[in-house]
Amino acid sequence: VVVAASGCDLHLDLAGRRVRAGLEAALREAVQSGRLAAGTRLPATRVLAADLGVGRGTVAEVYAQLIGEGWLTSRQGSGTQVATTEAALPVPGPRHGSPLPDGRRLRYNLLAGHRDLSAFPRAGWLAAARKALAAAPSQALGYGDPRGRGELRVALAAYLSRARGVRASPDQIVVCTGSTQGLALVSQVLRDRGLATVGVEEYSHPVLVRAVTSSGLSLLTLSVDESGAAVGSASDAGAMLLTPAHQFPLGPALSPARRAEAARWAAHTGGLIIEDDYDGEFRYDRRPVGALQALAPEHVIYVGTASKALAPGLRLGWLVLPEPMVEAVAEAKACADLHTGSFEQLTLAEFIRSGAYDRHIRRSRLVYRARRDQLVAAFARHAPGIPITGIAAGFHAVATLPPGEDEHEAVGRAAASDVAVEGLGTYAIDHHSRGPALVIGYAAATDHAYITALARLGEAITSRPAGSASRARTAPN
Ligand SMILES: Cc1ncc(COP(=O)(O)O)c(C=O)c1O
Repeated sequence: VVVAASGCDLHLDLAGRRVRAGLEAALREAVQSGRLAAGTRLPATRVLAADLGVGRGTVAEVYAQLIGEGWLTSRQGSGTQVATTEAALPVPGPRHGSPLPDGRRLRYNLLAGHRDLSAFPRAGWLAAARKALAAAPSQALGYGDPRGRGELRVALAAYLSRARGVRASPDQIVVCTGSTQGLALVSQVLRDRGLATVGVEEYSHPVLVRAVTSSGLSLLTLSVDESGAAVGSASDAGAMLLTPAHQFPLGPALSPARRAEAARWAAHTGGLIIEDDYDGEFRYDRRPVGALQALAPEHVIYVGTASKALAPGLRLGWLVLPEPMVEAVAEAKACADLHTGSFEQLTLAEFIRSGAYDRHIRRSRLVYRARRDQLVAAFARHAPGIPITGIAAGFHAVATLPPGEDEHEAVGRAAASDVAVEGLGTYAIDHHSRGPALVIGYAAATDHAYITALARLGEAITSRPAGSASRARTAPN
């Protein structure tokens, strides 16, 4: 049925359902799936009732029900609208089968890899943008070097050597649209050079692994323990992709012995290490662990991103390449998209050069350290006995569920409490060989939602599965 009322075309799939239940389900579905955006005004009950040929009371009851559940809001004078649930999110589909219908929107975001985007330093970024654009020569508006703007490569080389111990000259840097593109370009070049296999950590980010396999490279999985990836088992691979500062998602840093072993492996075999330094600056209990790249600059491809420190929507990342790879990667970048957008690059260059980036990182470190502490405290209180690991750095931690617990059910119970969180299995490259666990992102929720999110998660994962069937869905209000 399509009803056109109050300037609002509403497609509602009512086929074959009882009118009241059908209208309620159809409207809820339209809001949950995002088809009806936040703020959309719904037709007045009288108008919708006339369009559908049902009693006005029926429509009013349905609206009241959905207002009660938090999907709609009603304000005197402005009618009924689709509610703005700040953190309403589609739940990402776990790769190992999801207990949730796709497109479900949840209020409390505890997903790893997400950030509270309201914390983006808008004023500082705008000031940097204004300054950078005013200072840029007209030629900066044209096509440029596929490696990226010189201003940004100079700023990055200085920052990365100062803050991360990377041995970098601006000439070795290629700016790309996020680490994902950087990794895809590197994989393509390595594949063209005859590389067949890349070692990857047994639990890794699926998007990054896909960037590797999309160029035709095969994977060799490296197990991960408390010292990080077992780099010694990569001998059959020509390269390995590691997250040395903070293994994603399990959390350990690559130990000094493993770092040395990886550097020796690269020197002896000519193998390459791809270092994904996605959250290297964010270490809480001691100074950040420097980049592995410094141990073997000729053998390490260093990959960095603005997605964690600033915002993923910027799509800004960078590669620091061993000198002999620079030309081929720049060529691949030129084939892909000529170069990354100049304005964002100039702005980031100014943002770093002015010291705003350092200040932002320092501020964020305090915020996320406090969030990490709140997570630990909330689990001690609401879910005692559930160990939390991987907490020394970054924006996420791992909660190990009791043996025999079903990870999908725990994720489902969290979802029933309106909390978006993922099971560790989502990140398993081959098979999920560990016990059940949740990967909890603590950077995504807004300040006011975070504590509630933790309390709800703690309750959800300690409530018995048998009881969860009868748990009422809690409204997002
Ligand atoms: C391990 C890891 N590396 C890198 C990234 C960032 O990717 P990109 O720079 O393409 O946004 C993420 C994002 O979630 C990640 O989890």
